[in-house]
Amino acid sequence: MKYQAILFDLDGVLCTTDRFHYEAWKQTAQEVRAPFDEQINQRLRGVSRMESLEIILEGSPLTLSGEEKLRLAEEKNDRYRALLSQLTPADMGEGVRDTLKRLRAAGLRLAVGSSSKNAGFILRQLQAEELFDAVCDGTQITHSKPDPEVFLKAAEQVETPPARCLVVEDASAGLEAARAGGMDCAILGDAEMPFAPTYHLDRLEELPGLIL
Ligand code: G6P
Ligand code: MG
Repeated sequence: MKYQAILFDLDGVLCTTDRFHYEAWKQTAQEVRAPFDEQINQRLRGVSRMESLEIILEGSPLTLSGEEKLRLAEEKNDRYRALLSQLTPADMGEGVRDTLKRLRAAGLRLAVGSSSKNAGFILRQLQAEELFDAVCDGTQITHSKPDPEVFLKAAEQVETPPARCLVVEDASAGLEAARAGGMDCAILGDAEMPFAPTYHLDRLEELPGLIL
């Protein structure tokens, strides 16, 4: 087999938390009088919480102190966490669960590589923790995507050289992170990408057919 491990992004790949991020950031944008729409939201995919705030602040007439920025990010996260508590195992489709089990049964090691500091909470809500051999998230890294750190650490945790890892992503920051880490990448969905990924998927369920 070409790959020995698959490294999955979480938000937008294994579950759709995007709508919660959108709702929670929308209020922040209103507070700082910045525009916010789907296009701006796309730019927040895969990037850390504080970097996301900086992107929103690009459209704000205000100049905020570091302390004010921290407060805004914290308040956004409180709203986001409240929304996340609605997540149930049904928010990870059966098709996704079956696909993960099939890949693992074929001998592949599976890991999560997410910029989110809420990844542990999300995986618990989805009751999906036992589907993975390792979880590397925003609490374990100092540079978020497009830096390859989260994927390189995840690869290390599943004891696999980068060249034998496949990353599954939905965001351009993730595609760039995979390339910077020397890994192939499958892109799920139709977001615009800066260059062609190794594979393109409309649904995660297509993955076993491509690589097994
Ligand atoms: C994921 C999402 C991003 C989010 C980041 C940090 O990568 O795609 O939109 O900004 O996680 O999430 P957090 O849960 O730590 O605020
Ligand atoms: Mg994502």
